[in-house]
Amino acid sequence: MDNVVEITALSKAYTQGHEQILVLEELDFYIAKGEFVAIVGPSGSGKSTFLNIVGLLDDVYSGEVRLFGRRVEDLTEREKAVLRLENIGFVFQFDSLLPEFTVQENIEMPARVLGREKGGKAPELLKRFGLEEIACKFPMEISGGEKQRAALLRALRNSPALLIADEPTGNLDRHNSAVVLDDLRRAAGLGTAVLMVTHNEDAARRADRALHMDGGKLTGGAG
Ligand SMILES: Nc1ncnc2c1ncn2[C@@H]1O[C@H](COP(=O)(O)OP(=O)(O)OP(=O)(O)O)[C@@H](O)[C@H]1O
Ligand SMILES: [Mg+2]
Repeated sequence: MDNVVEITALSKAYTQGHEQILVLEELDFYIAKGEFVAIVGPSGSGKSTFLNIVGLLDDVYSGEVRLFGRRVEDLTEREKAVLRLENIGFVFQFDSLLPEFTVQENIEMPARVLGREKGGKAPELLKRFGLEEIACKFPMEISGGEKQRAALLRALRNSPALLIADEPTGNLDRHNSAVVLDDLRRAAGLGTAVLMVTHNEDAARRADRALHMDGGKLTGGAG
């Protein structure tokens, strides 16, 4: 199977004083190419902790994490950084567009970081997602929903194999949430594996599979 992420027996604990607090407990997980998976769970259940590990932002855990067929524990810091830049896109609840750049320039930013400014992928993405009208606007000139959509296109700029979205609709009204969920589905249709955390059961239903995080355990999820 064409799995982008494969995780076996993942556990993570935080130390508080003399106590070890187990946040993730023996999780198994996978996501395939082009699949849209949602994780739902109460606040504090470990969702962001999990995403940070999958996104190579945290390497303190036990268990095995495989990304794009490679065992993450065997990689150097540099290899992980490259893997992250080239293959993983991130979207968060609050937008993080750079205010002094236009939408199009913001979307090109991940390519600049990789020294790949040429290619003009932003116009194509804006067109594909129906956002051409805001290409030349600055973040302060567009709505919250549009900002979130622009941030999503920026995350997709380098055609990542994996998109990690932590509460991407958490700050949006119903209509804009639906639009962003459509965008995420479209991204999956283009071949990106989309891993989304949400508090919203309706949003989770839009995914191919919804998993539940509770007490550090991940359950459920028939397709
Ligand atoms: N750096 C840290 N040090 C100690 N404990 C932490 C740290 N980060 C998170 N935790 C604890 O780990 C648990 C899981 O946190 P996490 O942020 O993963 O939850 P979450 O499911 O994303 O919650 P939310 O829905 O509110 O975003 C919480 O109990 C939190 O207090
Ligand atoms: Mg969180």
